[in-house]
Amino acid sequence: MAITHYEALSASVKHLFKLDTPNSSYVIGIIDDEGFVTHVYYGDSIGDYHLEEIPRIDEMPFLPSNNNRDRCSFLDSCPMEYPTHGLGDFRQDCFKIETVNGNAGVSLTYKDYRIEKGKPDLPGLPATFGKEDEVSTLILICEDAVTGIEYQLNYSVFEDLDVITRNVRILNKGKEPLYLTRVYSACLDMDNEDYTALTLHGTWARERKITETKLNRTRLVVESVRGETSHQDNPFIAVKEATATDRYGRVYAMNFVYSGNFRITTQEDQFGQLRVTMGISDEDFKWKLEPGADFVSPEAVMVYSGEGTGKMTRTFHDLYRKHLIRSPYKDKKRPILINNWEATYFDFDTDKLISIAKEASRLGIEMLVMDDGWFGVRNDDNTSLGDWTVNENKLKGGLKYLVDEVNKLGMKFGIWFEPEMISPDSDLYRAHPDWAIAIPNRVPSRARNQYVLDLSREDVLEHTYESVAKVLRSANIEYVKWDMNRQLSDLGSALLPADRMGELYHRYVLGVYSLQERLLKEFPNLLLENCSGGGARFDPGMLYYSPQIWCSDDTDAIERLSIQEGTALVYPLSTMGAHVSDCPNHAVGRTTPFETRGHVALAGTFGYELDVTKIPEEDRNMIPEQVKMYHRYNDLVREGDYYRIASFRANGVYDCYGVVKKDKSEALFTYVQVVARVNYHSRRIFLQGLAPDKKYRIEGEDAVYTGEVLMKAGYRVKTMHGDYLSRLIHIMEV
Ligand code: DGJ
Repeated sequence: MAITHYEALSASVKHLFKLDTPNSSYVIGIIDDEGFVTHVYYGDSIGDYHLEEIPRIDEMPFLPSNNNRDRCSFLDSCPMEYPTHGLGDFRQDCFKIETVNGNAGVSLTYKDYRIEKGKPDLPGLPATFGKEDEVSTLILICEDAVTGIEYQLNYSVFEDLDVITRNVRILNKGKEPLYLTRVYSACLDMDNEDYTALTLHGTWARERKITETKLNRTRLVVESVRGETSHQDNPFIAVKEATATDRYGRVYAMNFVYSGNFRITTQEDQFGQLRVTMGISDEDFKWKLEPGADFVSPEAVMVYSGEGTGKMTRTFHDLYRKHLIRSPYKDKKRPILINNWEATYFDFDTDKLISIAKEASRLGIEMLVMDDGWFGVRNDDNTSLGDWTVNENKLKGGLKYLVDEVNKLGMKFGIWFEPEMISPDSDLYRAHPDWAIAIPNRVPSRARNQYVLDLSREDVLEHTYESVAKVLRSANIEYVKWDMNRQLSDLGSALLPADRMGELYHRYVLGVYSLQERLLKEFPNLLLENCSGGGARFDPGMLYYSPQIWCSDDTDAIERLSIQEGTALVYPLSTMGAHVSDCPNHAVGRTTPFETRGHVALAGTFGYELDVTKIPEEDRNMIPEQVKMYHRYNDLVREGDYYRIASFRANGVYDCYGVVKKDKSEALFTYVQVVARVNYHSRRIFLQGLAPDKKYRIEGEDAVYTGEVLMKAGYRVKTMHGDYLSRLIHIMEV
């Protein structure tokens, strides 16, 4: 059992709960007569010898039971599991309310506990899962006696991975309605000093760049208030001890399984202790809880690594591949697709698509995806979102005809939707202007000339679902790209009452989840790819519904190196939508070799985003080889352990990463020489993840090396003549 309960270890330590994963321990202490729920320890596995000695309760300010005159000082310094607002803990708290009298202060004291095998689902929310022998759950039941709030603090502990997930359930057991104005999902309060944070930031076409911030007394806030996770900020943080690297040192990471507004804070307090919190952003959040009602927070995943950020990454990858993604495609090769967005933008018709499909199928590509522009009168991005009826001027003979023709070529067919949106210039908006999110008497701000549908409404959800499903029922469509091209502003719903308007952001996200859940129920074999103007909704919440997410609208191989490095820091390679596109690249105007574009896209789902009838013949001739390369290596890329060897982002010269098969019999490293440098020796790269005593041969070479030599003495990569050149280093056990 991964959860152990100890009782009455000392006069002050009433209960201890020890949560053990293979290499980490997490200890919670219930202390003092009142039952404060305190944090005792998190880090490398420890035994159970006198754990009650760890908390600093024998020094000032002492416990309230013997020094209540300094209660505030106690609350403001003791490491807490779920700090509440307004009673003396002046650090960032996790929970705040507004009572009918307008008060905000609230306490949390221990009542009871339960330990269960397995992990309960979170109703309406994505969450990691596991069987009864893979995970167990500790439920701490706590209360605020004054309001009648019951808290359930849930901790699920994985048996085979260094992962603990957390969320809270709040029940109003009082007699009056309450407003929840802040409900975070997790707090990590560590009595440790000197940490650096790793976070992921960007913008459109520059998503998830790794950012390092030395933590100090200045608070760090990583937040989205855009209604989605966003291009700008990802719901991830790792705090690592100052000396930690990719391979060594202690790293504590958190990732939020949610696709809307979020807020992560770090704060070093007056004593140098670090507090990290994670949850739904409290900006414009106010949730009414009637007596008897409950609120369930989304899940925060905590990963501990005592072996640097590399191990942290591999833990996230294993967790998400095994315990989050549900799609039947999750352990399968995805069809190599060709998407017509960069090939044609809005300017296409049936003939054009069939000509692309014919050439693509001849070259070995397996699926045609018809992107934006097939519906309503959408010939540019100004109209028709919401009018999901086929434009038969473009698709002569209709959608089914096109799909059948593509199928006859032996290819699958996929289609693009942007279901959450409504164009002001659409039949839907003319019929239902109140279906758009808007504030009464204010014209909502447009973004890409569109508004957002009010997905907190049942009627809007029903209509949206049926519009998408009707198209999918009409032909043999096997893939959907679900796009979302603007962020939420002008928050207002025509149906929500005034005292529930603060629920709109969260209800919107629940609406998106319910639509995707329903879609997957009706079309269980559909391959769903989420997308949001590129990678603005690349988060674990979305991975619960789709096994892959479009990484970025920047398809340039060199830009992709750091976008994919940041993405792969947390998310498995199997989830990263990556395509080969034409040059000069549409986003940056750079020209790179077709081979390099293929090698870089190989690290993701792999596909094409170009007009295969128009690209240079020498590029086209390379496609069948790339198709073979994908089929040869995709199992390894999808399922292997990922190792970062060098980062172009950090060194400005070259990039190198690899995947190693779980049994260590095979590995594939990708080396990209971004900038050529004259008169240098060959470069020695220190491989990782191999078995030291196994013998390996590098494909194309005769020499045999031990894993130990390749990892310690390194492998020499010859300098190549020119910029943007790449090489695959395929290693097999002999
Ligand atoms: C944004 C996506 O990221 C692109 O790939 C493309 O689908 C466009 N939207 C279409 O409008």
